[in-house]
Amino acid sequence: MKQVLITGGTRGLGLSTAQELTRRGHAVWLTARSADAGRAAVGAVKAQVPGAIVDWLPLDLDSLDAVRAGAAEALRRVPRLDVLLLNAAALWAEGQADVLTKDGFEKQFGVNHLGHFLYTHALLPLLKKSAPARVVVVSSQLHLSGRGATKGIPATLDLARVREAAGDHTERYRSSKLANVLFTYALDRRLAPSGVRAGCMCPGFVPETGVSHARGFKKFLFGTVLKAMPFATTLKTATGHFADVCVDVPLDELGGKFFVAGKPVRSSEVSYDEAQQEALWARSLSWCGLTDG
Ligand SMILES: NC(=O)c1ccc[n+]([C@@H]2O[C@H](COP(=O)([O-])OP(=O)(O)OC[C@H]3O[C@@H](n4cnc5c(N)ncnc54)[C@H](OP(=O)(O)O)[C@@H]3O)[C@@H](O)[C@H]2O)c1
Repeated sequence: MKQVLITGGTRGLGLSTAQELTRRGHAVWLTARSADAGRAAVGAVKAQVPGAIVDWLPLDLDSLDAVRAGAAEALRRVPRLDVLLLNAAALWAEGQADVLTKDGFEKQFGVNHLGHFLYTHALLPLLKKSAPARVVVVSSQLHLSGRGATKGIPATLDLARVREAAGDHTERYRSSKLANVLFTYALDRRLAPSGVRAGCMCPGFVPETGVSHARGFKKFLFGTVLKAMPFATTLKTATGHFADVCVDVPLDELGGKFFVAGKPVRSSEVSYDEAQQEALWARSLSWCGLTDG
């Protein structure tokens, strides 16, 4: 039985992966931004998997102080950690006022990358003590190619602009998902000698996860139209791939790789650029007030 910690376990793929992993006999800690949401998610897992070993931990990736507090509680309560699944993500709608994190970073970069960077650093002693262990980072194949005008164009990341909410929100999401891959490869390089490996993955396009918080036409679009498209993946299939990468794929096949729909594929060329990986690493350390080692 593995001990798995899933960030963003209140809905979507995080919740369904918690259900699938407990069904397979593993113990799951899921994170939530409030006690009500945490208790509801634990209830939703137990309703599907009677006898599931599952509990919740607080984590709000929108604030670095909240991440420090969440990590401190995880370190107090989690005795062993075999798998850290960095799944939570923000995808903000164009025009929404709340586009920066509490620390002034573009919301998607701050939540999807920087908060997870800090959380992972705080949990490293626990992961190393639990080795062999793994960190699985959820990215997106949208970092390889956008849609519409950016179709076929890989995402870029401009570290000088991560404190601005400039440009198109989907492009900022793509940048944050490139940051997830750059981070994964730099992390794996550092952790491999300690028996902890890091890999990243994309579930494919899963419109069903958008249904819970969409309204009106968008609900119909996600739940009916897009769900039926040949390029869409079902939540059940994507959840199975997530669970496989978390607990079944051997560590040496996971380390430094990008998985789409459960199979290793090449990530974007820029994601393999060690200079970019190291630049992101160094700036992230500094933004989080950390030093390496
Ligand atoms: N669905 C797809 O088609 C697709 C495709 C490619 C990649 N992905 C990736 O797969 C992962 C899961 O996606 P999903 O579709 O399941 O997403 P989702 O349904 O929107 O769920 C997102 C999760 O992240 C949590 N979260 C959001 N902001 C947070 C914050 N500031 N602090 C802590 N937790 C926060 C949410 O918690 P609350 O309930 O508190 O908001 C929720 O549990 C993401 O990394 C996403 O980028 C998804």
